[in-house]
Amino acid sequence: MDTREQNYADFISTVSHELRTPLTSIRGFSQTMLQSWDKIDDESKKKFLKIIEEQSNRLINLVENMLSVTKLQSSKDNFVYKETNIKPLLEQTISIVKNQYKTHNFDLDVHKNIPPVFTDRDKFQQVMTNLIENAAKYSDENSTVYITVTPSDNPHHISIKVTDTGIGIDEKDYEKIFTKFSRIDNPLTRKVQGSGLGLYITKNIVEKMDGTISVCSKDNKTTFEVVLPVGNMEDYARAKCSQ
Ligand SMILES: Nc1ncnc2c1ncn2[C@@H]1O[C@H](COP(=O)(O)OP(=O)(O)OP(=O)(O)O)[C@@H](O)[C@H]1O
Ligand SMILES: [Mg+2]
Repeated sequence: MDTREQNYADFISTVSHELRTPLTSIRGFSQTMLQSWDKIDDESKKKFLKIIEEQSNRLINLVENMLSVTKLQSSKDNFVYKETNIKPLLEQTISIVKNQYKTHNFDLDVHKNIPPVFTDRDKFQQVMTNLIENAAKYSDENSTVYITVTPSDNPHHISIKVTDTGIGIDEKDYEKIFTKFSRIDNPLTRKVQGSGLGLYITKNIVEKMDGTISVCSKDNKTTFEVVLPVGNMEDYARAKCSQ
């Protein structure tokens, strides 16, 4: 088998495993309910249905992420750059995540000198959703997630930082978390579900936008930093021409 075939075989094997786990659980709990409906009390029925709902959500998340990966690998995945005021876009992203993580606090601080940015709004939002969702997902309820936007040291770039005080990430895992299907195997990560594709997709999008992403975690304080070019009409026109 050559490397490409091996990669493909590994991909299929990982995907099959990721799909089988929630499907087995959905089938198991629905079979139990159908076969023993009269013997199960209402409380347990509710519990089983909750598991079925959670596992279905897990499958939807996985399929959506796999579609994103495939799209990013295809040349047809065009980015549409528009002049964008990122503050309202970030506010919208935060309110979407807040809806899912109601007890977390989200603190947005956009430096006053941030110019409009030429970016693909959907892709920008996908990047920020992944990072803000992770920050909430891997930290305690009632904790605060900080999102700050400042000019970057790199001229004509902005820096967006997402910081949480959660389970933290070991330095040895900094690279690994950005690869396909990678989750850090510890009891705290296992408590929440995920496909391990979010950061892989995020890094891919950021790099397609000519930006960079990095992580730094110390004393359980984890910061992901995205540095993006502000862009201009010329870049925008060039992007348009190449579509
Ligand atoms: N803010 C964070 N704090 C601690 N660990 C994190 C954080 N963000 C990511 N990780 C670790 O990196 C791994 C990969 O993150 P990634 O977003 O790619 O996948 P995921 O959250 O597990 O699943 P999903 O594909 O649903 O996003 C996570 O499983 C977790 O172990
Ligand atoms: Mg994630």
